[in-house]
Amino acid sequence: MRTILAGFGTVGQALAQVLHQDADRIVQAYGFRPQLTTIVDSQGSCSDDTGLDIPLALKTKKEYGTVAKYPKRGRRNGHSTHFISNSEAEVMVETTPSNFKDGEPGLSNIKTALTSGKHVVTANKGPLALAMPALLELADHRHRQLCFSGTVGGGTPFLDFAAKCMPGERIIRIRGILNGTTNYILTRMENASLTFEKALAEAQKKGYAEKDPTNDVEGFDTAAKIVIIANWVLKKRYSLQDLDITGITKVTPQKLKQARTSGAKVKLIGRIEESSASVRPEEVPTDDPTCVPDTLNALTFSTEHAGNITLIGPGAGGERTASAIVRDLVSIRQEYAT
Ligand SMILES: NC(=O)c1ccc[n+]([C@@H]2O[C@H](COP(=O)([O-])OP(=O)(O)OC[C@H]3O[C@@H](n4cnc5c(N)ncnc54)[C@H](OP(=O)(O)O)[C@@H]3O)[C@@H](O)[C@H]2O)c1
Repeated sequence: MRTILAGFGTVGQALAQVLHQDADRIVQAYGFRPQLTTIVDSQGSCSDDTGLDIPLALKTKKEYGTVAKYPKRGRRNGHSTHFISNSEAEVMVETTPSNFKDGEPGLSNIKTALTSGKHVVTANKGPLALAMPALLELADHRHRQLCFSGTVGGGTPFLDFAAKCMPGERIIRIRGILNGTTNYILTRMENASLTFEKALAEAQKKGYAEKDPTNDVEGFDTAAKIVIIANWVLKKRYSLQDLDITGITKVTPQKLKQARTSGAKVKLIGRIEESSASVRPEEVPTDDPTCVPDTLNALTFSTEHAGNITLIGPGAGGERTASAIVRDLVSIRQEYAT
């Protein structure tokens, strides 16, 4: 399975490492060998139709900051859509940054890949948050798969659980915590009586929050995941602009104290109801299974007959997301093996 990897940061490099380490196991268990034939970062690319040397690509990135310096087969600049449309690879994996304004460069990469007959696995939420219904239609039209297990819950299979483990059951409502960074900040504000600013600074120091934390603390990351769940699990045609979104920047120690007196904690809750979806800080009773601490994620599916089912697990992380991408590659292979 020849694979183009667009984006070679935390997730892209973790994927390369997992593919290298697990190559023999994947061949033995599933009968195919995923090969990275092109890697693109913001400065350039490297390509080898017979498969790139992964340790060399990782070493080159570490030493020079770009795969453009990959011996003999690296080059500076060039547009990723050019490599994607001209490549004979079967799959394109998208791990460029999530951009919730116009979805780029991921949106063009995904469209180009599907249009030129490639399956797509994306960890990038931006294109899905803005245009998921159209992208699913394009994939369907081109008879290609568009997979996105790594976008929600990292290693915790929220999407697969809801879509594959509950056939025949009607899911009425979904609500929960889908962002580990904001949950960590709220937990520290609660447990150590920190202000939002101090808790955010601590999360950044520990590497849980990015230097620019806007997407997490303003609720966009949670909202993107809610859009993906709503489209995939509940077959709604939502995009980001259909949601009411409020982040956690205005949560104060007083609000947390007030919640405590009524036996609750303030959590950033993503919610999908019958005809609406939202992201906002809500008071969650401490005995509710969704009321998880630290960087954990938790999602409760309210069903017609089976009652409430809650899935709890670790959220994002480079290696966990890489493992979800490998799951998607295996599922593409199983679906399309001849
Ligand atoms: N990190 C996680 O735990 C996690 C979990 C789930 C989903 N995600 C999603 O996965 C994606 C990747 O996350 P990450 O943490 O790996 O981000 P990252 O470390 O910032 O890596 C992004 C990569 O994209 C490259 N890039 C940026 N602009 C590009 C362009 N125009 N053309 C080609 N490549 C470009 C960057 O190049 P340079 O290396 O040259 O800067 C970098 O290699 C994001 O969409 C994120 O939301 C991340």
